Amino acid sequence: MARCFVTRRLPGTALERLAAEHDVDVWPRRLPPPPEELRERTRSVEGLLCLLTDRIDSALIESAPRLRAISNYAVGTDNVDLHAAASHGISIGVTPDVLTETTADLAFALILAAARRLAEAEAEARGGDWLTWEPARLLGRDVHGATLGIVGLGRIGRAVARRATGFDMEVIHSGRSRGVGLEELLERSDFVSIHCPLNRATRGLIDERALGLMKPTAMLVNTARGAIVDGDALALALRERWIAGAALDVIDPEPPPPDHPLLEAPGLTLVPHIGSATHAAREAMAELAVDNLLSALAGRPMPAPARSLE
Ligand code: DGY
Repeated sequence: MARCFVTRRLPGTALERLAAEHDVDVWPRRLPPPPEELRERTRSVEGLLCLLTDRIDSALIESAPRLRAISNYAVGTDNVDLHAAASHGISIGVTPDVLTETTADLAFALILAAARRLAEAEAEARGGDWLTWEPARLLGRDVHGATLGIVGLGRIGRAVARRATGFDMEVIHSGRSRGVGLEELLERSDFVSIHCPLNRATRGLIDERALGLMKPTAMLVNTARGAIVDGDALALALRERWIAGAALDVIDPEPPPPDHPLLEAPGLTLVPHIGSATHAAREAMAELAVDNLLSALAGRPMPAPARSLE
C-alpha cells in the first residue's frame, strides 16, 4: 500500500478504486491546495494525482523524495516540470483520447458562437434591446463555406477538422513539420483554431505580428492553453478591429484578474476552460488518471504516459 495525494475530488467513482488499494489523501476544497500545502502533503507520498491548476515544479519534486508517479488529470503537461520528474525517475501520466471528441465539440461550439455572435445575441434577447426583427442587427459570419485554419493537427485538431468537413468548410492546418506555414494559415483562414500544446516553442505564438496577418473578418478560437496567445496583443487586435472576433476557452492567467485587457475587448466570447467538461469525459479522465497511478505504483508501465505524446 502506497501513500497518495489527490489534489481535488474527481467526478465518478475512480478514486474509490485508488482508495481500495492505497492510502489516499484527497484535498477537499474547491480551490487548489496553496503551494505550501501542496508541498507539505506531497512530501511523503509515492503517488500524486494532480490537476492542471497545480504547479509541479522542480522544487516540489525535490521536496518529495519518495514520489514515484505523477498522474496529471489533463492531456496537457505544461504545469509539470517533465525534465525534473524524469531526472528523478518519476513516471508521468496524462489523459489523452478520452477528452478528444468532447474538446473538439467545444471548439466547434466556440467557432459557431463567435461567427454568430451568440453571447451578444443572448444578452440582447434578455436585456430589453430586442425591439423588433431588424434586417441589419447582429449580423455575423457564415461558417459553412469558410476556411478553417487548425494550428496543431493532433488528436483534437483532427477531431475539429472532421466536424468542419460536415459544415462544408475548407480545412487547412499548420504544425511543426506538416501542413502550410503558420503565416499562410493566418492569411487564408476565416477561423483560426488553436490545438497545439503549450511549450517553449508555442508560448506567445499568436502575437501582434501573427494577429496582424489575419483577415479583418477572421476570428480566433483557442481551446488549448491561454499562453499560446499574447493576451495584450489579442486585446489590441480586437479593439482596433484587426480581426472580427475571438472565442476563448482558455486565457492567461486563469482565472483572469478583473483588469485583464481581454475582459473589456469587443467581440470576445470567453468561457472558463470547459473544453473537457462533460460528465462522460471528466469521469473517463478520472478513470484513466487512476489507471495511470495504479499501474505505476504496481511497477507496470502507465497506460497513458506523457512521453508517448511527445
Ligand atoms: C487538458 O486536459 O489539458 C484540458 O485542458 C483539460 O481537460
